[in-house]
Amino acid sequence: MSDPPNSTQPPVNLLDAATLQLHLASILTSVPDAMVVTDESGKILAFSRAAEALFGFSAEEVIGKPVNMLMAGRDKANHDNYIGNYLRTGERQIIGKGRVVIASRADGTQFPVDLKIGEARIGDHFLFTAFIRDLTEQQRSELRMQEMQAELVHFSRLSAVGTMASALAHELNQPLTAVANYLEASRDLLDSPDPETKEVLREALTEAARQAVRAGEIVRKLRSYVSRGEVDARPVSLGPLLADAIALSKLSRDLADIPIKLDQDDGADLVMGDPIQIQQVVINLIRNAMDALSNTQNARITVRVYLSAEPGFVAVEVCDNGPGLTSELQETIFKPFATSKSHGMGLGLSICQTIVEAHGGTVRAISPPEGGTCFLFTLRRDAGKSGS
Ligand SMILES: Nc1ncnc2c1ncn2[C@@H]1O[C@H](COP(=O)(O)OP(=O)(O)OP(=O)(O)O)[C@@H](O)[C@H]1O
Ligand SMILES: [Mg+2]
Repeated sequence: MSDPPNSTQPPVNLLDAATLQLHLASILTSVPDAMVVTDESGKILAFSRAAEALFGFSAEEVIGKPVNMLMAGRDKANHDNYIGNYLRTGERQIIGKGRVVIASRADGTQFPVDLKIGEARIGDHFLFTAFIRDLTEQQRSELRMQEMQAELVHFSRLSAVGTMASALAHELNQPLTAVANYLEASRDLLDSPDPETKEVLREALTEAARQAVRAGEIVRKLRSYVSRGEVDARPVSLGPLLADAIALSKLSRDLADIPIKLDQDDGADLVMGDPIQIQQVVINLIRNAMDALSNTQNARITVRVYLSAEPGFVAVEVCDNGPGLTSELQETIFKPFATSKSHGMGLGLSICQTIVEAHGGTVRAISPPEGGTCFLFTLRRDAGKSGS
């Protein structure tokens, strides 16, 4: 076997002082982070090229000086304590961990840095090597991120306000039309003030007042729901609530002659929820069914209430024998502003979904084989009755 080509030269001792010095010098010029070496008194022993660029001092200017000249604020005053403390107790505050501190440049400007410190023990003495990374850019982009996030929150709040405004317009339409109808009827009745008419007049005005109160309730409920996302749930009897909803749906419609049948199973009545909101769901579904039936012969709507297959839930179904949903519509009907109607806002079903889901139930559309459309939603049974 032949010797390696350079075996005749004396071997380089990689640990000899001169070699190490050269090695250190090469590290100091090439290490990408700013690097500062100090002794245990905090005196600067070495200062890398990147540190010169970062701090604006040349190595000659700082070597032999206390390292806290590169620091600012609390850390500047406390630096000697940090080292003293460590040397005394061996307790590591920054060493090996790294943390964010404020550094100071030659021109006095301050900037955030990530500081990591390594230690080397040589005999009885310590050397500390600090690696310093400028965080100015990172903090600037974090700040930008925060600004962007704030904008986003603001934007989504704006859009919540927009959605709420549209939802209000949608939901108030029905009670306000009812109020107007009652008042117009009352005005006409004023012309013949016999006792019987007076009684009808009284009823009409009472109803108008009731609807105005209901409109106010809707605004209040929607506002508390949007601001807190809460439902004011209590035991509600579905029977009377649905009868009312059916009457209310007919009130402001020219399609009022479509028969609406209420079909309720025994034991499927008490649910937990907010009666005004549940009524809104049913009214929206019946109004949609009425719209769908405008050109249908023998049109009819059925509202069915029964115990859901899902334990603890009651199902409410609103079915019509209209033209049914096209398959392409089925995908989008619950999305806000999805409408096939020239005067529709496309909000009814999205409001229904929001309300039902806030109540812990689900809502979906079904296309029965015999034709027409059913919308089915579930509500929790009143907990006190769910065992019965
Ligand atoms: N019973 C139904 N039969 C057939 N299509 C329906 C039925 N209910 C809803 N749709 C379809 O779903 C769409 C969305 O209904 P949604 O109630 O969300 O809005 P809209 O009725 O169009 O407008 P509005 O905001 O006034 O309620 C309707 O435009 C209609 O195309
Ligand atoms: Mg609708």
